[in-house]
Amino acid sequence: MQIEHHTSPKNIIAMGSRSICLLILLVIIIPSSVMSESSDIKSLFTLRHSIAEEKGFLRSWFDLETPPCSWLGITCSGRSVVAIDLSSMPLYVRFPSCIGAFESLVLLNLSGCGFTGELPDTLGNLQRLQYLELNDNQLIGNLPASLYTLKMLKEMVLDNNLLHGQLSPAIGQLQHLTKLSISGNSISGGIPTELGSLQNLEFLDLHMNSLNGSIPAAFRNLSQLLHLDLSQNNLSGLIFSGISSLVNLMSLDLSSNNFVGPIPREIGQLENLRLLILGQNAFTATIPEEIGNLKRLQVLLLPECKLTGTIPWSISGLVSLEEFDISENHFDAELPTSIGLLGNLTQLIAKNAGLSGGAYRKN
Ligand SMILES: *[C@@H]1O[C@H](CO)[C@@H](O)[C@H](O)[C@H]1NC(C)=O
Ligand SMILES: *[C@@H]1O[C@H](CO)[C@@H](O)[C@H](O)[C@H]1NC(C)=O
Ligand SMILES: *[C@@H]1O[C@H](CO)[C@@H](O)[C@H](O)[C@H]1NC(C)=O
Ligand SMILES: *[C@@H]1O[C@H](CO)[C@@H](O)[C@H](O)[C@H]1NC(C)=O
Ligand SMILES: *[C@@H]1O[C@H](CO)[C@@H](O)[C@H](O)[C@H]1NC(C)=O
Repeated sequence: MQIEHHTSPKNIIAMGSRSICLLILLVIIIPSSVMSESSDIKSLFTLRHSIAEEKGFLRSWFDLETPPCSWLGITCSGRSVVAIDLSSMPLYVRFPSCIGAFESLVLLNLSGCGFTGELPDTLGNLQRLQYLELNDNQLIGNLPASLYTLKMLKEMVLDNNLLHGQLSPAIGQLQHLTKLSISGNSISGGIPTELGSLQNLEFLDLHMNSLNGSIPAAFRNLSQLLHLDLSQNNLSGLIFSGISSLVNLMSLDLSSNNFVGPIPREIGQLENLRLLILGQNAFTATIPEEIGNLKRLQVLLLPECKLTGTIPWSISGLVSLEEFDISENHFDAELPTSIGLLGNLTQLIAKNAGLSGGAYRKN
């Protein structure tokens, strides 16, 4: 009643225009509030614009009936995008810097998409990221410093790109890493000691780069490591004796480097080894006696290692051995007959090994 009391034509107009305003506000606010709740959804349209414009695949991305969270490769939790997996989509465009807008991302899998250009610094915004797979693209440049701030990362897979520059000591900040794989790039310089502090690391593959220097002694701390591949680099020095701490190691490949000195006898303590590949190095002396302890070893490749002396009798301890390559060495003896005890050996390659005596070909 009081309202009515105050009602004048002016007020009615005011009220009317107020409700029109309200209406306009509602029209504006409702959709924009939906949008602001889900800036990720907006970012999906930006992403679509930068990667998929006029492409015949990713059809669902252009289907008006399909909500963005249901687009192929997109996973949302509520209105947040938590996973983007476009692996093996032949996109062949520049790596989209707008990826940095998806701050709730836990998984980003863009392997084999043909992305070009550099990795953007904005990757550092993805502070919840646990899985980053960008292997098999054509990415160039350095690893952006911001990458080393992604403290939740468990897996970082960057193999087979054109990345160069050095690995930063800041890699030590990624304490949750279980898998680090950067093979097939042009990473140069030394292996940072800080890598040895990643105590959860199970899988480390840096093969086929231009790394130099020696394996840091801190690697002895990587006791969870199952797979270590540093082959095809320019690493030098001794194979560190602390290698015996890597008790869980199942495969070790240090081939095609410039390692010198003896193969450490401590290698005999790696009783879980299935695969030991040390070829194309400049070792001295012979195969250590202790190698015979490796009861699970299936593959032992030691070609072109400058090995001398005799092959130890204990080689018969390698009861699981299937493949044995000692070609192109400087041994000065016969192959021990104990090798005949290796019932599972199907491949023995010993050409130009310096071995005398005839019966070194087995079938
Ligand atoms: C990423 O995609 C590749 C290829 O589809 C797949 O093999 C790999 O397991 C995926 N990685 C993750 C963490 O989902
Ligand atoms: C690694 O192990 C060495 C001992 O070999 C120890 O002194 C060092 O503190 C460890 N480093 C890290 C980062 O855990
Ligand atoms: C490793 O290579 C870098 C260049 O990438 C060079 O400056 C450095 O001296 C090399 N270190 C060793 C130990 O050879
Ligand atoms: C590898 O390192 C050696 C020294 O250890 C150096 O003479 C050689 O030039 C390096 N090779 C490459 C390809 O960097
Ligand atoms: C030889 O290989 C067979 C079949 O793979 C396997 O069952 C057996 O345990 C192996 N022998 C040894 C001594 O490892």
